[in-house]
Amino acid sequence: MIFSPPAPGRPGRIVVRQPDDWHVHLRDGVGMRNAAAATARAFARALVMPNLRPPVTTTAAAQAYRGRILAALPASTSFVPLMTLYLTDDTSPAEISAARASGIVLAVKYYPAGATTNSASGVTRIGHVYSALAAMEAHGMVLSVHGEVTDADVDIFDRERVFVDTVLARLVRDFPALKVVLEHISTEEAAAFVLAAGPHVAATITPQHLLYARNALLAGGIRPHLYCLPILKRERHRQALLRAATSGDPKFFLGTDSAPHARQMKESDCGCAGCFSGHAAVELYVEAFEAAGALDRFEAFGNAFGADFYGVPRNVGTITLASQEWMVPASYPFGDESVIPLRAGEAMRWKLIDGQEPGK
Ligand code: DOR
Ligand code: ZN
Repeated sequence: MIFSPPAPGRPGRIVVRQPDDWHVHLRDGVGMRNAAAATARAFARALVMPNLRPPVTTTAAAQAYRGRILAALPASTSFVPLMTLYLTDDTSPAEISAARASGIVLAVKYYPAGATTNSASGVTRIGHVYSALAAMEAHGMVLSVHGEVTDADVDIFDRERVFVDTVLARLVRDFPALKVVLEHISTEEAAAFVLAAGPHVAATITPQHLLYARNALLAGGIRPHLYCLPILKRERHRQALLRAATSGDPKFFLGTDSAPHARQMKESDCGCAGCFSGHAAVELYVEAFEAAGALDRFEAFGNAFGADFYGVPRNVGTITLASQEWMVPASYPFGDESVIPLRAGEAMRWKLIDGQEPGK
């Protein structure tokens, strides 16, 4: 990373190796173009989640989805979508082998059935997917985990912690060589579990979990555009996540979970979970790292640790950000509708100055 402090008449600048986003929702259909353009603005590659309707459960479906994403971007794009399969009770070891052999599927996503958006086809019992997990372990394929239990009697603020103590602990014990990414961690306990586990267990951390605690969501009025799953937790957890992200430990890396929903779907009596951060993801992370006094740790978090974990080469190109204030628009186009971004109508401290404009 090269940091040039501000000088009279010139803002500060940082130049970092281009990051990847190891967890994103690009959707499908008319909104996909906007979501993909926002991510391709700053990231070289992104691991694209498979919770479409219907879900991406086969390599053939992942291949087709990849083609649609690339077709929605300008022909000149260098952005590379990396694909995932959606794990169901019926996923066969043969499907895992086919996914591995395709070279385009990097991970299999485990949604506990009913845990979040479009998770109805997810895993009903961990025991049902043991043959698929064994195949993944044998192939060195990554299991990407939405780590929340869905039991009605477990409080929503405890669902990640209980998942970690029960399901994840069992998974890691029964498949000691399986590569696991605990996605969008939101608690101190999840960070501690990942840290204590072997080198094949890692975690992604989102910008919203680094920048906001649950008061931002619920105190003084409910803010549906900050509602995501796992839900934002207490400030003590945010502090723990910031420590993990800025620790320089390669187990923690960048995954935005940018998850656009049309405005009406969020501002509803039963609003969808998901924060849209693709429009300013890198800037949001840089702000969080700067506030923690750890700007110099951002580059590896975004560029090195995820690539190393997934076994792909690190990006060698760079992006440049300037310490130049800008206002996030109140909304962005999202197909025929609009999406309210993180920080809508508020100021950002950092601006990407050599990327593509989002939403164009
Ligand atoms: O908040 C979330 N939104 N969490 C998820 O796990 C899924 C995502 C979505 O797809 O909207
Ligand atoms: Zn997600």
